[in-house]
Amino acid sequence: MLQKIPLVLAMVVLAIGLVSCAEKDEYDPAHDYFSYANTDEFVTRHIALDLDVDFSTEQLRGSVVLYMNAANGSGGDIILDTRDIDIDGVVFVGDDGSVTPAEFRLGENDAVLGAPLIISIPAGVNTESEFAVRIEYETSPTASALQWLPAELTAGGKHPMMYSQSQSIHARSWVPLQDTPALRITYEAVIHTPDELLAVMSADNDPLAPRRGEYHFDMPQPIPAYLLAIAVGNLYFAPLGEDTGVYTEPELLDASVYEFANTQDMLEVAVKKFGPYQWGRYDLLVLPPSFPYGGMENPRLSFITPSLLAGDRSLVSVVAHELAHSWSGNLITNATWRDGWLNEGMTSYLEGRLMEIIYDRDRVDENHVLDYQELLLDFATVPTWQQGLAPRFDVGDPDDFQGIIHYHKGQLFLQYLEESFGREVFDSFLLGYFEDFAFQTITTEAFLDYLDEKLLRASPDVVSREQVEVWMYQPGLPADAPVPSSKTLDQAAELAVAWATGDVSVDAIPVEQWSPQAMVHFLNNLPAELDTSRLERLDSTLGLSATRNAEIGRTWFIQVAKRRHEPAYQHFTEYLSRYGRTRLVAPVFAALANNGHDLELARSLFADVRRVYHPITLSRISGILDKAAVE
Ligand code: BES
Ligand code: ZN
Repeated sequence: MLQKIPLVLAMVVLAIGLVSCAEKDEYDPAHDYFSYANTDEFVTRHIALDLDVDFSTEQLRGSVVLYMNAANGSGGDIILDTRDIDIDGVVFVGDDGSVTPAEFRLGENDAVLGAPLIISIPAGVNTESEFAVRIEYETSPTASALQWLPAELTAGGKHPMMYSQSQSIHARSWVPLQDTPALRITYEAVIHTPDELLAVMSADNDPLAPRRGEYHFDMPQPIPAYLLAIAVGNLYFAPLGEDTGVYTEPELLDASVYEFANTQDMLEVAVKKFGPYQWGRYDLLVLPPSFPYGGMENPRLSFITPSLLAGDRSLVSVVAHELAHSWSGNLITNATWRDGWLNEGMTSYLEGRLMEIIYDRDRVDENHVLDYQELLLDFATVPTWQQGLAPRFDVGDPDDFQGIIHYHKGQLFLQYLEESFGREVFDSFLLGYFEDFAFQTITTEAFLDYLDEKLLRASPDVVSREQVEVWMYQPGLPADAPVPSSKTLDQAAELAVAWATGDVSVDAIPVEQWSPQAMVHFLNNLPAELDTSRLERLDSTLGLSATRNAEIGRTWFIQVAKRRHEPAYQHFTEYLSRYGRTRLVAPVFAALANNGHDLELARSLFADVRRVYHPITLSRISGILDKAAVE
């Protein structure tokens, strides 16, 4: 009897354990919930692309060879990611070139993830050492990564253009592969194009390549799949410095050379601060307006929106940002999209450090104050469980996840560490980090362990691991978080109120001395109640509706829509069709759709201008309009 009690107890404990285990959340923060690939069993080391770029059908057509290894003893199927791809055949290729056809099937399609491609390993094929699988395929004209632009939507208007945007999980719509940032691959490519066009990739571009309709690329440094990139168009090159240059259509070349003249300096400063630049050259590709982002850090060749061409170099922090990704993001990559702050927050922090050296602290402070305002607005709308830097993330679309929190809360966290430990100590931590994790992927938790070892425990009593974890897992900002401030922006905000109350006349606003950032802050701080006639006066004196500065235009047209300032409505179509960058147009649609009166107008404007937008921008705006309709 006595002996039985512990046994019964043990059974009860076991039963409770089993129940709670089954109920317990089995979320694994290191698992990539946005890829079907069975990377535990197989990993790709290298891929070789051979693709025709067919503008007449808006398709890529050809093959990819995946050079793979099996993890020990695995004998099951290979699962790859695809979305919207037609697979024509799969063969295993032997060392002697012999081919063995393989059975394959596409699994069920998911709107966000696409469909798994399941490949059976044929009998007789040896997967013990590296093996090669060749897949013949063609993309769909609606491939989510690719935009096919007719000639009239390019600057020159004579040649079509196409380009890719693979982040976050769009690479799978133009190459069947293991589409997870947890894995790195090298690649080579042969790209066939119409004779007169140039192809460029996130690889070893040759500005002098003869235009013969065939281009060869090599990318010897291993990269995650989301950094695979291609563009084909009437592109020309101009050098910016010894290791830097810009590709774009001839019509935009001079303006680009002027705007981005300090790219070489940025690169040199970055090397001094963050360690060796590991990628060879650093070039920019300035795309047509439909490019949905400010920039995309495709290695060796950042893709850039033409909306930065303000003529005064006032928006080049975006270039500093994309360049900084050569360290944070491309050299050390977030293990999954949930760890995106390690890419974007760290890069936003490095961007500020570069801008401070190239320009000055005031300009950085101005940018940080504007970012901070956006962050506070975001906290007001994002559910609290999602406000940590590294919350649970296993459903939804990685493109819509975190955004501002990863960028600006991440930047503030690193600024907090810098201020707590001192710049010198923090800089040497960063140098060590970029060296120790070069060409690796990293989870938030691995970063915390490293931080703990190198920084927190090395200087005890400065910042504790618990404090750091508050940043990672708790909503909002800790009480001791840095608060950015800028004298020039404070003055602009004061003037906004002084002008609104009539204390200062519009001619007395010192706009000539203002940065575009100060103007943005001025507009954001105008009191809610303002007469139409006063806003008209402001517009005509400051030239707001006609501005060519994209950030001023964005701020102004958001205000116009929110306030229902109808005299400026006539400019919506022009503004909304001049830009395609999501950041510049989506919030204007949102402000119109949600001002209580103009949902129909927003819809009809969208119908008018949607032709110039990228699929990513289209889906963002459609989402905004649909949501406004049900609210
Ligand atoms: N990597 C991002 C763009 C991106 C993020 C694409 C998430 C797809 C999913 C790029 O580096 C970026 O951050 N762009 C910003 C620039 C800005 C913060 C300086 C942009 O486009 O606004
Ligand atoms: Zn970025």
